[in-house]
Amino acid sequence: MTHPRTSRPHLRTVSITGVGSHVPERVLTNADLEKLVETSDEWITSRTGIRERRIAAEGETTADMAAKAAARALANAGVKPEDLDLIIVATITPDMPFPSTACLVQHRLGAVRAAAFDIEAACSGFVYALDIGSHFVASHTYNTVLVIGAEKMSSVIDWKDRNTCVLFGDGAGAAVLQNRPAAHGLLTTCLGSDGGKAGLLEVRGGGSACPATAKSVADGMHYLRMDGKETFKNAVNAMVTAATDALDRCGLKIEQIRCIIPHQANQRILAAVAERLGAGPDQVFSNVERYGNTSAASVAIALDEAVQGGRIRRGDLVLLVVFGAGLTWGSAVIEW
Ligand code: ACO
Repeated sequence: MTHPRTSRPHLRTVSITGVGSHVPERVLTNADLEKLVETSDEWITSRTGIRERRIAAEGETTADMAAKAAARALANAGVKPEDLDLIIVATITPDMPFPSTACLVQHRLGAVRAAAFDIEAACSGFVYALDIGSHFVASHTYNTVLVIGAEKMSSVIDWKDRNTCVLFGDGAGAAVLQNRPAAHGLLTTCLGSDGGKAGLLEVRGGGSACPATAKSVADGMHYLRMDGKETFKNAVNAMVTAATDALDRCGLKIEQIRCIIPHQANQRILAAVAERLGAGPDQVFSNVERYGNTSAASVAIALDEAVQGGRIRRGDLVLLVVFGAGLTWGSAVIEW
C-alpha cells in the first residue's frame, strides 16, 4: 500500500479523531407520503429502498442540526470548541444566503478562535469539505478542523412532486480532523465535477439568475427539480470512477476495504456501484432505509453510525464515495 499524502515529507498525516451526527425526531414514513401524493410504500421501497426519513421541526434549521452533530463529534474527539481553528459546513440548504451557516455554528458552539465558511457541492459536499479541511491540517496551517455536512432538504422539497418528495430527508454529520503522528489517517481524496450537466438536478430560484419574486414562488422555482433517470446513470458511473481512482492512487484492491460508505441516495444506486466495483454486500454500509437522501449529511451520518456501531475499527480501511448536483463527485480512502 502506498500513502500518497505522507509520501510528501513536508505534509502531515490527517486523521479523523471524532465523528458525530444528529437527525431530527420527526419520522415521515412511506405510509405518511401515501397521504400526500399518489404513491405507495411498495413503489418507494422497490425503487429506492427508503422506508422512512427524518424531517426537521418547524423552526429547526440546518445550523441547529449541524451544531448538535458537531458537539457530538467534538466530545468523541475530546476537543473543546475553543480549540477549533476552522469550521467548514457543506450544505445546499443554508439557514440563509448569508452569513454562512458555518458562522452560525461557530457562535453556537462557542468556537471563539475558529474561522468559518460554507462550501456547496450538493450531495458530494462532505467529501469536498473533508478534502479542503485536510489540506489545512496537512500543511500545518491549522491543528484542529471541524467539517460538517448538514441539510434541511425538506425546506426545498415540493411536497406535491412525487418524483422527488419521497427521496430526501434532513440531518447532519460532523468529523474532527487532526494530526495523529502514529496514524496514517486520510490516505487520499479525489474530487470531480461536470457543470455541463447542471440542469439534471437543481433549485433554479433564489440566486442572482432568478431572485425571489412573487412569480418565482408561484412558479415553484425555489423547489428542487430532478431528472431521476439521468441522475441515476450519472451517479453510478461517477461513483465507480471516483472509487476506482482513489483505490488506484493508494495501490489498494476493493477486497482490502473493510467498509465502503457510498452517498446514501438510493439502495439501487448503492447496489449497482457495489456490483461494478466487485464489492460484497457486507462491505457496503447502508442506512438509506431509515433516512433517505440527506445530501451533504449523508456519508457523514453513515460514517458516524458505522463507527459507533463497530462496523469500523482502528486500522480498518474505509472508502467514502459520493455524487451530487453540479454535477459533483468525490471519494476518500481512510485508514481508521
Ligand atoms: N410513486 C409512484 N410513482 C412514481 C413516483 C412515486 N413516488 N415517482 C415517480 N413515479 C412515476 C413517474 O411519474 C413515472 O411514471 P410514468 O412512467 O407514468 O411517467 C414512473 O414512476 C417512473 O418510473 P421508473 O422510470 O421505473 O422510475 P425509476 O426506476 O427511474 O425510479 C427514481 C425513479 C427512484 C427517482 C430513480 O430514477 C432514482 O433513484 N434516480 C436517482 C435519484 C437520486 O438519487 N438523486 C439524487 C442523487 S444526487 C443527490 O443526492 C443530490
